[in-house]
Amino acid sequence: MTEGGRTPVATNTLADVFNVLRRRPDVEAPNLQAWDATDRLLLETAAELGVRGSSLAVIGDRYGALTLGALSVLAPATLRVHQDLVTGERALRLNAAELGMSAAEPAGGGYVQLPLGAELLSGADTVIMQLPKTLAELDETAAAIAQYASPDVLLVAGGRVKHMSLGMNTVLERYFRSVQPQLARQKSRVVLARGIKPAAAPARFPVVEHLAELDLDVAAHGAVFAGPRLDIGTRFLLTFLPAMKPGRRAVDLGCGTGILAAMYARQFPAAAVTATDQSAAAVQSALATAQANGLADRISILQDDALSTFPEASADIVLLNPPFHVGAGVHAGAGLKMIEAAGRVLAPGGELWTVFNRHLPYLPALERHVGPTVVEGQNPKFIVTRSTRRGPRA
Ligand SMILES: C[S@@+](CC[C@H](N)C(=O)[O-])C[C@H]1O[C@@H](n2cnc3c(N)ncnc32)[C@H](O)[C@@H]1O
Repeated sequence: MTEGGRTPVATNTLADVFNVLRRRPDVEAPNLQAWDATDRLLLETAAELGVRGSSLAVIGDRYGALTLGALSVLAPATLRVHQDLVTGERALRLNAAELGMSAAEPAGGGYVQLPLGAELLSGADTVIMQLPKTLAELDETAAAIAQYASPDVLLVAGGRVKHMSLGMNTVLERYFRSVQPQLARQKSRVVLARGIKPAAAPARFPVVEHLAELDLDVAAHGAVFAGPRLDIGTRFLLTFLPAMKPGRRAVDLGCGTGILAAMYARQFPAAAVTATDQSAAAVQSALATAQANGLADRISILQDDALSTFPEASADIVLLNPPFHVGAGVHAGAGLKMIEAAGRVLAPGGELWTVFNRHLPYLPALERHVGPTVVEGQNPKFIVTRSTRRGPRA
C-alpha cells in the first residue's frame, strides 16, 4: 500500500467535489484544470449502469476527481486506486482532506492507494479508468486487469475524443470478451469492456530492448516516456558526457527509463547515481534498466516530485531532460520546477546539465536558481547547458 485515506460516508454531489479540486503539488495555472469532462462522464456512466456498492478499482485518476467523485456518488463497498504519478497521489490526499473526506472512519468506506498489481485489482468487479496516453500503457493496464480482476469485471474507460484511437479498442479486445465504444458526449467518450477472455495475453512488461548505439539494454513499463527508445534530446545531451564533472553523488532528475543514469554510472565508475521521477512506471523502468546492465549496485531509484525529499546541497551533478508538456497543454512550469529543485539540491560548485527545446525560456531560470550558465552546444532543435551552482549567498 502507498499512502491512503479512510473516509466518512460522503454526501457531496459531483459538483461539490469538482469545485474544490486542485492540482497541487503539480503545477497550477489558470489554463490547467484538476478535472475534465471525461471524469464526469465516467462517473455518470457508472452510476447509470448501477455499479453502486461494487468492489471498485480506479486507475489513472489525475488529481482525485474519480476517486472522490466515486465515493460521493457510487458508494462503493471498497475503493482501491492506482495513479502513476506521485503528484497525483499527493493531490488526491490533499483534495480529500479539503473535502473533509480523509478522517479515519472504518465504517464509512474510503480509498486505498496502491501500485498496479494484485493488491489493487484482485476481486474487483468494476474498474473505472481514464484512458492513458499511450497504447503501451493501456496494454500493461489491461493485462493487469485481466490477470487479477474478477472474470466478469466491467471496465468503464474513457478519454477526450481527440486523444482516443481505434488502436485502443484493439488493445482492449485482446483481453476482454466484449468492447463497446459509446456515443461521445461533450467531446469525451466512454468505452465499456466486459468479461476477461479465458486465454487473455499474458503481461509482457517491462519490455527490454537493446539500444545498439549506446550498447545499453533499456527496460520500459507502458507509461514511461519514450518507451524503450532513445529520445533525441537525450541523445544530444549524452554527446556531452565526456565533458561532465565526475561527481560522487549524481542525480538523473526525471529519469524515465534511466538511460542518463546508466550512461553516467558507466562513464564515472566512482559515482553513486540516484534515478528519480514522479512516475512509478519510470522509476520501476529505471530500476529494471540498471539491473539489465549490471548497474543495480550503483544506481538507486526514488519516486518523488521534483526532488522534494532530497536534502539541500546533497548532489554534485544533476542531469535533466525536462518535460515541456503538462498534461495535454504545453506549459514550461514543469521544467522550471525541476530547475529550481536542482538548484536547491546541488552543492556549491555542483553542475546541472540540461537539454531543452530552443524556444523554451529556461536560461534566465538556470542563472537565477542554479548559477552561471554556459551553452555547451546547440543544434537546430535543442540547447545543452551547464550551470554551476553558486556558493552560499552572503
Ligand atoms: C523528457 S522526459 C526525460 C526522461 C529521461 N530522462 C530520458 O532522457 O529519456 C521527462 C521526465 O520527467 C519526469 N517528470 C516530470 N515532472 C516531474 C517532477 N515534478 N518530478 C520528477 N519527475 C518529473 C517525467 O515523468 C518524465 O519521465
